[in-house]
Amino acid sequence: FFYGPSMKKVVSRYTELTGRMPLPPKWTLGNQQCRWSYANEQQVKDVVLRYEKEMIPLEAIQLDIHYMDGYRNFTWARQRFPDPTKLTKWLGDKGVKVVGIVDAGVKYEPGGKYDVYNEGVAKNFFLKKSNSDLYIGKVWPGESVFVDYTLPDASKWWGDLHGKLLDTGIAGIWNDMNEPADFESRDGEKWKDVVNYDEGRFSKHDKMRNLFALLECKATYEGLQRLRPKERPYVITRSGYAGIQRYATMWTGDSNSTWASLALCLPMFENLGLSGETFVGADCGGFSGRADGELLTRWYQVAFLTPFLRNHHEANGYDQEPWRFGSRYTDIIRKYINLRYQLMPYLYTVLADANETGIPWFRPLILENQNDSNVVNIEDEFLVGSSLLCAPILKEGACARDLYLPEGDWYDFNSGIKYKGKQYISVIAPLDTVPLFVKAGSILPMAPVVQHLSEQTEKTAITYQVYPDEAGKASGQLYEDDGNTPEYLQGAFERSTLEFNQGKLSSSSNKNKSKTSISTTDFKVISSK
Ligand code: GLC
Repeated sequence: FFYGPSMKKVVSRYTELTGRMPLPPKWTLGNQQCRWSYANEQQVKDVVLRYEKEMIPLEAIQLDIHYMDGYRNFTWARQRFPDPTKLTKWLGDKGVKVVGIVDAGVKYEPGGKYDVYNEGVAKNFFLKKSNSDLYIGKVWPGESVFVDYTLPDASKWWGDLHGKLLDTGIAGIWNDMNEPADFESRDGEKWKDVVNYDEGRFSKHDKMRNLFALLECKATYEGLQRLRPKERPYVITRSGYAGIQRYATMWTGDSNSTWASLALCLPMFENLGLSGETFVGADCGGFSGRADGELLTRWYQVAFLTPFLRNHHEANGYDQEPWRFGSRYTDIIRKYINLRYQLMPYLYTVLADANETGIPWFRPLILENQNDSNVVNIEDEFLVGSSLLCAPILKEGACARDLYLPEGDWYDFNSGIKYKGKQYISVIAPLDTVPLFVKAGSILPMAPVVQHLSEQTEKTAITYQVYPDEAGKASGQLYEDDGNTPEYLQGAFERSTLEFNQGKLSSSSNKNKSKTSISTTDFKVISSK
């Protein structure tokens, strides 16, 4: 039982118990692109070159299962990716990181040369049935076995295996199919006979199932930590359990390329956030089926404000990279990805808040306005932090919508028009516009648009957009660190408190406690219309 009574306190106490999300590397907040699957080196390069040509920021390419040799985890298909290290270097020189998928199923290959299978069998690391035979399921590689992550040695072994990928330049791990999925036992019936070590209790799978993904991600996270102690691990997962946020970020799995799926993203992200998992996102454009330019564009108008921003689509489906439907749509998508990069100082601060307090990035209105009965059932608007409110267009053909603004005054981000809160309003939102509002009394720290986040360095001037309240005052926060190492845990960060009063903006921080004025050239006061 978690006593609040404020919902924020409940979430904060829940995450005090189950753990809070450590900060991932900052580049993971950049724009990511994936496809099941970019099948060879040339396709990957072409996509990256096209991103450059379209001048759309790109931070990472994610490689789906075809980079592996016959779907064998920790291998590369050399006929299609002949020199992975050279490829990741080529991409790295262009400022693009590579994330590789790792599936829960390990190819069952007795008598073969697959060292992961051979070692796992020799060391007794795979799950067995009650008669002591290996449990063999069916996943992408065909017959597959699964690690018993409740065995500490097996977890360590699995974590260390990631060295094979890191050594080829992979920068993040995408853990998929970790429910665990099994094509031959979708209802889990066959799994009931699986035995887990479970600290010597030898427990059946029905007790242990929920822990599978959690422990797999823990093994992965800790492996990455051991292998690259100076870097923050980056793990993405499809499945999880209470506390998963300590080890992995999450995407919402195989969504449909439909308006209904887009609308469902909002309550899903909000519920994940309230469950402690802050770093979430969906396959932008949807995974299955066929998006069109309008749906993809509207999807980006939600995704540009989610922690995980990744366009991904199924194999044999239709392409949906940002340029797929022509320049009318590409231009708008670019505008919103650019805006995300401009908002990055604010967004990174919101992420750091989640790390410190457990209060999520992506918030339902009720989290900030618990006593306002009007917000109880609103699931088509959301907040990012406490200052930004987005009311996206979630219906085909719609160019306007009604929305509710909670207590306070709100500035329309696009027009500067100021509205009183606690009222319903109607706004016009043609395809190039997403209704976005800033709470009066806030300060948004902003950065210049760049092609890669590494270009937003310490020397990059931060500018501030000030949205004064009735009394002409505003305040905000800015969190900064090196973006890559775990040193922030030892205090290597700067958290500035920004205060605007009587036309002047000042800042003080944990490093520099005295108030310093910010030059008038570095901030802009939004005057209400
Ligand atoms: C699963 C994942 C999807 C991935 C596919 C192939 O369906 O959810 O994202 O593309 O497997 O690896």
